Amino acid sequence: MKLFSYYKYFDKINLLTIIFTTSMIRSCLSIMASHTKCRTGTYPRTTINRFLVPDDKVNWSTEYKDYEPPYYTSPATYGKPWADPDIGSPNFNPKWNNLDGNISRQSYMGEYQIVTGYPLNPIGRTGIRGRGILGRWGPNHAADPVVTRWKKNSSGELEYDMHKKKILQFVAIKRQDTGEWALPGGMVDPGEKVTTTAVREFEEEAMNSLVASEEEKQQWKTKFKDFFSKGIPIYQGYVDDPRNTDNSWMETVAYNFHDDDGSIVGGFKLQAGDDAVGVRWVDIKPDLRLYASHTNIVEEVLKKHMA
Ligand SMILES: *[C@@H]1O[C@H](CO)[C@@H](O)[C@H](O)[C@H]1NC(C)=O
Ligand SMILES: *[C@@H]1O[C@H](CO)[C@@H](O)[C@H](O)[C@H]1NC(C)=O
Ligand SMILES: *[C@@H]1O[C@H](CO)[C@@H](O)[C@H](O)[C@H]1NC(C)=O
Repeated sequence: MKLFSYYKYFDKINLLTIIFTTSMIRSCLSIMASHTKCRTGTYPRTTINRFLVPDDKVNWSTEYKDYEPPYYTSPATYGKPWADPDIGSPNFNPKWNNLDGNISRQSYMGEYQIVTGYPLNPIGRTGIRGRGILGRWGPNHAADPVVTRWKKNSSGELEYDMHKKKILQFVAIKRQDTGEWALPGGMVDPGEKVTTTAVREFEEEAMNSLVASEEEKQQWKTKFKDFFSKGIPIYQGYVDDPRNTDNSWMETVAYNFHDDDGSIVGGFKLQAGDDAVGVRWVDIKPDLRLYASHTNIVEEVLKKHMA
């Protein structure tokens, strides 16, 4: 199924949303600034142990004389279009803390420091240096869409939980690497709020199962365009991700796309796609456990709808 380019519509998210985002950032920073997943055990896909960083030594401004973390940059990333060369390579002149051509090297956490040529993780020490398995030195930008609906039974009637409350559901995908359920997010270019991964699932459902005529296709395209331009900002900032290092880290923008009456994306059953990645509607329950910081994001969405 061909992907439609919805990107061009997302920069039109209106001024109100932008203002709202700015105030959200302040109130939400505490969600993920804890920085624990990227301080323990071995680095993903390696046998390299992180150097021990006690809680009171995370902050760069606290002296840690014995700190000698291993250096690791995955050989598999070299030469990839999404990956930077080594620091100090000829012709590699990154514009730190700026928009650098098609790459945003700006952090949602404010200006990050550059020490001996290397960007410093804004939260602090991680026990490992280098680029790891991430593509960019400094911030690596992703978007995590939270697409939600109210749960209905097979007759199309709203379902309620034991406390007689409506049940919020969101779209989750099963990650092939860890087997965990996660938001259908991905890396984004500057200005993008949602990835094609997120909309593709719905497009496939709509086009394969429902659409007959060219006219209907156009109608669905219009509906999707509209739906995915009305995201509510949930979080914007650092992500406590196991891939983070002292010099490379994940940041995300999470938007909630809510289909209140179930008329747009809410009507789709979401079968697993042919790329063998499971996709489904998942009930948001207190014991929900998701990949990386996705649990926190989904909890924020639930709070908003239940308030
Ligand atoms: C940015 O991306 C566009 C489209 O892929 C490409 O044509 C352009 O050359 C890129 N610009 C830079 C500075 O990399
Ligand atoms: C690290 O400590 C400094 C000085 O106490 C403080 O200003 C800064 O906010 C701390 N950084 C973090 C990420 O907590
Ligand atoms: C769906 O819920 C409605 C209202 O609670 C109920 O009347 C109906 O029987 C339910 N349908 C099924 C298939 O469970």
